[in-house]
Amino acid sequence: MNEDLKKKAAELRQALHRHNYLYYVLDEPEVSDAEYDRLMQELIALEAAYPELVEPDSPTQRVGALPLKKFETVRHTIPMLSLENAFDEEKVLAFDQRVMRFLKTDLPLLYTAEPKMDGVAVELVYENGRLVEASTRGDGYTGELITQNIRTIKTVPLILLHTASVTVPSRLEVRGEVFIPIEAFKQLNKQRLDKSESPFANPRNAAAGSLRQLDSRITAKRPLDIFCYGVGVVTGLEFTSHWKILQTLKALGFRVNPDIKPRASIEEVLVYYRDLVGRRHEFPYELDGVVIKVDDLGLQRRLGEKSRSPRWALAHKFPATQETTVMLKIDVQVGRTGALTPVAHLEPVSVGGVTVSRATLHNEDEIKKKDIRVGDAVLIQRAGDVIPEVVKVIITRRTGAEQIFQMPSVCPVCGSKVVRLQGEAVRRCVNANCPAQVKERIKHFASKGAFDIDGLGDKLVSQLVDEGLSKSYADIFTLDKATIAGLERMGEKSAQNLVDAITKSKQVTVARFIYALGIRHVGEHIAHVLARRFKTLRALMSATVDDLMGIDEIGPQVSESVVAFIDNRENQRNIERMLKAGVTFETEEAPITEPLAGKTFVLTGALDSMTRSQAKRRIEALGGKVSSSVSRRTTYVVAGKDPGSKLGKAKEVGVRVLDEKEFIGLMIYD
Ligand code: IVH
Repeated sequence: MNEDLKKKAAELRQALHRHNYLYYVLDEPEVSDAEYDRLMQELIALEAAYPELVEPDSPTQRVGALPLKKFETVRHTIPMLSLENAFDEEKVLAFDQRVMRFLKTDLPLLYTAEPKMDGVAVELVYENGRLVEASTRGDGYTGELITQNIRTIKTVPLILLHTASVTVPSRLEVRGEVFIPIEAFKQLNKQRLDKSESPFANPRNAAAGSLRQLDSRITAKRPLDIFCYGVGVVTGLEFTSHWKILQTLKALGFRVNPDIKPRASIEEVLVYYRDLVGRRHEFPYELDGVVIKVDDLGLQRRLGEKSRSPRWALAHKFPATQETTVMLKIDVQVGRTGALTPVAHLEPVSVGGVTVSRATLHNEDEIKKKDIRVGDAVLIQRAGDVIPEVVKVIITRRTGAEQIFQMPSVCPVCGSKVVRLQGEAVRRCVNANCPAQVKERIKHFASKGAFDIDGLGDKLVSQLVDEGLSKSYADIFTLDKATIAGLERMGEKSAQNLVDAITKSKQVTVARFIYALGIRHVGEHIAHVLARRFKTLRALMSATVDDLMGIDEIGPQVSESVVAFIDNRENQRNIERMLKAGVTFETEEAPITEPLAGKTFVLTGALDSMTRSQAKRRIEALGGKVSSSVSRRTTYVVAGKDPGSKLGKAKEVGVRVLDEKEFIGLMIYD
């Protein structure tokens, strides 16, 4: 093995670890995404060529490893205790009194006040600066080994940062909470519903379910994040305060919640709590309280612990986000793709400080599964700004007068037929011109990630559709000021503002345009993938299912949906009209260098250094395409051991054949 290559790989790894940290942990990237991707591609190619260079803590390994049969268990060196709960301020003051009595002091105590994350507690073990093991809390004494799942979380350092201010300890056990941010949770559930999988009840369940995957490649696709809040065994570093521990963790590259604050007295802690309660729904993740910790580690040691929780800490919980109420009726809403969604109308009830009168029921299978009937007493739950949900029926309160709900067999808005396709959880209205669908499509079109048209809100969209002024989103660009001003409750000024907003929105990126079209299964991420691949809208418009299937991350469902969309005459017309109305494309950020762009590969026979699907992934990562059959359009046939008939075909058609070495050489140097 060439020493230069080894050195090169080490340099790339180090650079990627650093950029990863700057981007994900500090949110202060130093290089563009394209530059980061370029470094990553370079390392991927190098490791593909020389698999002996691959190390478990290489940044390329965050995609997940081979599935496990079961999780091994592991004993925590120091038990992971739980916390005593307090639900009101009196209990918090009593805790402070108890601590002072125990320590025989009447001086106010220094505490740290920390947001209490609602996720899954984990322990990460680092030896000489490398992540070697990660486990769940389990019962506090033994947990499950989930190292390969933890490695997929981008905010978990695989290698600790070396800085002048902190020496890297020879052993470091770090504790923290793994969670899924609320927005990402909503997306995840949407995808699951689209695939007829049952949604996760809340972000915590989603995080727990994702961490308990035996196949870490699934975990890698879940939007997990972590905040670290403590340590277990540490060898080679001494601390005197909890605050100092947190600062050190930060310096070593861990993500520590920026809202953790030192507080000089319990009264100050209460002020902190009140502030957090007021802001709790503004956080991008779920909080369920404040953790109060005595800061001085010497005092912590003197206080010690009870059987399951330390005497030096307390969880001051937020008011409950679950409440019981009565389900008054079930309405059915029609979405952008015609999906009929049942919505519960509830007797208004205050949940965690907000009045709730509606809750989503997802789909008819969910209603059946939970046996929800009209008139039932139900337990509902509100999490962050997620639409409230019905958790379960309170069966003991059934009177017999409750009514079983039937999904309508015609669209409640336009009266058209509804169908439920095989393998789908939802019924759909088949009428693409159903006013409800049109309204939702326009709302989506004008939304933030799409054309982002300020002022085109729900009410206005309804008016435009009901008045017959907009039959599709393409009509938005032909609206003039006089027409808009003629609508009810619309003044000259607001009409002008809307016209200005529409004009401004006409400059759009290809990705936003694709997303705005509202193609089924094409969310913001897939829209980006498509834009990156096809570069122009015109190129996408002539894509075939095969072209699409050749793209990493795109499967049959998306491919077919995209092709069905672009084959539709009405859609083609709408797109042309928008382009005529002056929609133009902004150039996207610099394209990633794709050394294999425009080249089509066919693989035959077994390769020594990688599996066929790894080879496919690598080719695609470098911009190439992989096809299953040889034709004149094939650029190269890669022949491994025991090649099949494709080799003969290649020779027949005159396609260049590469052996494994040449193939790898191409990935690195071409
Ligand atoms: S400290 C002995 N700090 O709450 C100290 N825990 O009810 C125990 N949690 O299992 C943990 N945020 O999952 C601590 N800032 C925080 C926390 C936190 C969330 C969770 C953790 C723990 C549970 C205890």
